[in-house]
Amino acid sequence: MNEADADYLVSRVRTIRDFPKQGILFRDFMPIFADAKAFGLLMDALIDALPVPAEEIDMIAGLEARGFLFGPALANRLGKGFIAVRKAGKLPPPTKQASYSLEYGTAEIEVEDNLIEEGKRVLIVDDLIATGGSAQAARDLIEQCGGTVAGFSFVMELVGLDGVKKLGDYPVESLMKMP
Ligand code: ADE
Repeated sequence: MNEADADYLVSRVRTIRDFPKQGILFRDFMPIFADAKAFGLLMDALIDALPVPAEEIDMIAGLEARGFLFGPALANRLGKGFIAVRKAGKLPPPTKQASYSLEYGTAEIEVEDNLIEEGKRVLIVDDLIATGGSAQAARDLIEQCGGTVAGFSFVMELVGLDGVKKLGDYPVESLMKMP
């Protein structure tokens, strides 16, 4: 992607101070999806920056909620299937779960069982990696289902929080790195 296009894409991210609580610098990606040009540039950039070659990916797994905004579009562009990693309690059984720690308490994520064939190589996508807890749980969940995690793609990485370190030795790409 050329510099003008990269600048255009970054210009569509809105930064809101103290949302949803005091001290958080919230990064809002919704303007990207509302703008056809930015949405197209985002898809091109994700494909240009896949962490492994497309031939080494069988499926895309997207995390609820914002991974659902572009994960299926990416899967479709690459000719792959899509797996929804949802918050617990939304998918009908049979499912598999994994949990991770939040600032207070824990959260559970879930996928429908039997959608991933043994050994399929799965790229995990989400809009943003902060502390990495949900991405790490998604990795464990995909592996519990018999998949192999091919790598991770994020639109944005909050570099100060070291989330990528939590993911271990997997290929990771983030399009935008922000403090
Ligand atoms: N999720 C976790 N941290 C975030 C942030 N700063 N902006 C948007 N989404 C987030």
